Parts: sequence; C-alpha cells; structure tokens
Amino acid sequence: MVLTFVRANGKNRMAQQLTWTKKDLTGIEGLSRAEIEFLFSQADQFLPALAPGKGLDLMRGRTVVNLFLEPSTRTCTAFEISAKKLGAEVVSINTTASSLVKGETLRDTAMNIRAMGVDAIVMRHSSAGAARYLGEALDISVINAGDGAHEHPTQALLDAFTLKQRFGKVEGLKVTILGDILFSRVARSNILCLSKLGAQVTLAGPATLVPASLAEAFPQVRIVHDLKTALSDADAVMLLRIQHERQTTTHFPSLNEYTSQFGINASRAAWMKPNAIIMHPGPINRGVEVDSDVADGPRSVILEQVRNGVAVRMAVLHLCTGCINR
Ligand code: CP
Repeated sequence: MVLTFVRANGKNRMAQQLTWTKKDLTGIEGLSRAEIEFLFSQADQFLPALAPGKGLDLMRGRTVVNLFLEPSTRTCTAFEISAKKLGAEVVSINTTASSLVKGETLRDTAMNIRAMGVDAIVMRHSSAGAARYLGEALDISVINAGDGAHEHPTQALLDAFTLKQRFGKVEGLKVTILGDILFSRVARSNILCLSKLGAQVTLAGPATLVPASLAEAFPQVRIVHDLKTALSDADAVMLLRIQHERQTTTHFPSLNEYTSQFGINASRAAWMKPNAIIMHPGPINRGVEVDSDVADGPRSVILEQVRNGVAVRMAVLHLCTGCINR
C-alpha cells in the first residue's frame, strides 16, 4: 500500500511517500520509525470517526476475527469497535467454547478461520511468538494483541500516540515506566517504540522486577530503584500492574510491601513536574500501584489512552489488511 503523509522535518513539513508492506503486526521490533509515524498520521485521520454515529467504509466487505486466548477488556473491545468503525464484519471467538479446548492446534484453528473467508485474525495468546508463528503460516493479516511476556504492539503504539497528542512530539521526552517490567509485554513494546521515536526511557521499580540485567537487553534505558529519582524528571510516568499470572515465584514480600515502596499516591505524584502525566495500560489495581485520586486526577490520561486505542487500531487494521492478496 503506497500512501503519502506529511512528516515534520525541522521547520519544514515535507510530503513523503511510504510503502506499507506489512500484512501482519506482530511486534514493534520489526517497525521503523517512519512506519510508526505513518501509522500515527493514519490514526490522526481516524479520530473524527470515533464520534458517536460516525464511521467509514474503508474495510467494507472485510471480516476480522478476534481470537483472544487470554482475558481482555480494552484490547478486544477496541479492535472490535475499530473494525466496525471501518465497515468490516467482526467475529469474536469465545475461547472456552472453541475447539482449541478439544485439542485442535492453533494452526489448524487459524487455517479453519481463514478458510471461511476471513481477512484478519487479531490474537492474544499466552505464548511468546504465537502471533509471528501464525503470521508466517497464513496469507491473511495477523495482529498481535499480546503474546505472553513478549510484545503488546498496539498498546505501545497507542501510548506513544497519546504522548505525541499531549506534548506535540515524542522525541526528547523523558518517560518512566514503573512497576513489573520483568514480566511485562507492555514495557517491552514501549521500550522499543519510545526509543525508536527518540524518547529517553527510565525503568523503575524493585530490583527483583527491574533487574540490572535488563540493561543488557536494552542498553539505551536508565534503570532506577529510587522512586523520587524516577518520578522527578519524567514528562510521563507509565504505571504497570503487578502480573501475578506470569510470576512463578514471589518477587517481593506482599502487595502491601510494593504499595508502600512504589505505589503512587497524591503526595508522591507531587514529586513529578507540574505538567507531567500519569499513564496506565489497564487494568488498574486501585490502591496497589496507584491510588484513585491519582488515577482519576488531573495528571491522568488513562482514558485518553483507551480512546486513542481505537484510532490506532483502525490504522493498524486498515494498513495491514491493505497488504493481503487473496
Ligand atoms: N491494556 C490491555 O491490554 O488491557 P486488556 O487486557 O483489558 O486488553
């Protein structure tokens, strides 16, 4: 798909051609900065379609299947709304009622879905690499909606899109990601996405969840275990939930212990710069990683993130399905 977009280049705004060639979105890892910025320019154009009663016909005649093999509220719903806003048909498979529980392989399940004339599978799976595996096996679009502790690319895209909307640019921003980094696909995708866009990323939390070894995988990030340091120079603080479902051992004595050391309450939020924002991918554990007066307070952009997630996923679906030939 060849499309023209306008990219800020110093004081000049230049029209540039970008050829979007990816039928799948399996991770941020494989995206270039130009592709991310192009996707944002598409998402910007889709924002008006989020209004009640508005929609587009760009995917009329297409069918999207939501195959969520782990729980989801935001991602699953946002993909369904995004596809419908583009005029596509959407089928969401209830995985407890699917034949995967009878021993069918993931590949066979996907091949059967494809045989019904489906154009895109949006999949959440507990195994890292599951989306890439399906994308290589199929000639239709496969979108990763979260694969184990590996990547959650559309979450990172909507987070960076929200930062750009709020600050005008991502380049040069200081973003602290606080909490359970070790087990977080959101953190991994955000580190990759924010770094590609020129932000400076700090990873913060207890040493058990933010080990020094992360610096080997991500040499561009700063690792901090002191909360005040992590908060005080950030433009945005991205809070993460403690992911018990991916932890096989206890990484701190109790949730109360985590909250007492790293939970964000009003007095700790006051350490942040006056215009700094609080982000969270959801679901929030109120009273654990964040208090309600911060989650619902003036710094919070959490619901803006959710809303932007629809426009960003519209762009992902439109661009990726525009590359399939069947
Ligand atoms: N942020 C996110 O992935 O939320 P869900 O698990 O509700 O989709």
